Amino acid sequence: MSIECEKVGGINLSQGICDLPLPPVLNTATKDALDSGMNHYTRHDGLDELRAAISQKLLRYNNIQADPLKNIIVTSGSTGAFYCACLALLNPGDEVVLFEPFYGYHQYTLLALGITPLYATLNPPCWEFDANEVEKLITKKTKGILINTPANPSGKVFSRRELEILADICLRHHLFLFTDEIYEYIVYDGLSHISPGTLTTIGDRVITISGYSKTFSITGWRIGYCACQEELAQQIGYAHDLVYICAPSPLQAGVAKAIQSLPDSFYLSLSAAYEKKRQVLCEALQEASLQPYIPQGAYYVLADASRIPGVNSKEKALYLLNKTGVAAVPGSAFYHQEGGENLLRFCFAKEDQVLNEACARLQRIKGFI
Ligand SMILES: Cc1ncc(COP(=O)(O)O)c(C=O)c1O
Repeated sequence: MSIECEKVGGINLSQGICDLPLPPVLNTATKDALDSGMNHYTRHDGLDELRAAISQKLLRYNNIQADPLKNIIVTSGSTGAFYCACLALLNPGDEVVLFEPFYGYHQYTLLALGITPLYATLNPPCWEFDANEVEKLITKKTKGILINTPANPSGKVFSRRELEILADICLRHHLFLFTDEIYEYIVYDGLSHISPGTLTTIGDRVITISGYSKTFSITGWRIGYCACQEELAQQIGYAHDLVYICAPSPLQAGVAKAIQSLPDSFYLSLSAAYEKKRQVLCEALQEASLQPYIPQGAYYVLADASRIPGVNSKEKALYLLNKTGVAAVPGSAFYHQEGGENLLRFCFAKEDQVLNEACARLQRIKGFI
């Protein structure tokens, strides 16, 4: 859709690239690191100061205790963390439960490693799941459940009760709980982000994955991490060493400094800024008769595209682009079968001016549906 959007000079609300300005301390600290000649490999598990900063942050924000020397691996983005966790802990032929609609990289990472995704449904409008359905999927080959909270593309924020149910299933079936929390600071309506790794019953089997792509608006810097019990961390660290050697060193230094120095208000204002953008886009979608499923977190909205002409979501996305100049992702990208054919995903991580223009253009669809 990005390529199609470029062809018509449209506004791209399809890709999840955040346009927010960087916190200045991040730029300064990274420049200092470059000026001081920090051009070389770091330890495979990351710089000491970054692991220390992540450890303090995990305790403060996620309520997870992680020893920076034993339990934390700095990775090449959270994508690198998930890939290496799967590479290290799973074998071809294993199965992992994936909630649908899913984030494409989760599905393709599993498939690339010969791991079979088992699809559990998140039911709109509230994206609830049926614990019995999840349990029925599990076979002797199942090794894990993957949670993404807040979720891309649904915006679902898993509640404590839901996490406890899934933790209980993992315990009873000896499964890993992989949890991608890349949008952990982007939650709305006064909700709190709850890390599954904070549930004491399951702590040892949880692989907590996150990073700074979204929080600091640095998707191209590739700074992520995973936190888990020592033995698993060691194995994931070896896999990360093999695939990436390390995350970029001066960028690790900059992120470490930013984590250490940014006040809580920075993270609160991040959520507040996105909450305003969420409102702007959801109101515009509603007005354009593309009923939005209001997200609880992350920065995407799934909208009902059943009124847009087209036999599938790809045709609908192209129709919308051609009539309005706004690009969205076809819902089929988030489902393994037909589930998403009447959905489109819009990203609101855009500068206000761009978002406002997209919202105005979206109204043009009213003349065609
Ligand atoms: C759910 C989810 N996980 C991970 C990522 C990628 O994160 P990173 O840049 O840390 O690899 C994205 C990016 O869109 C995402 O939506």
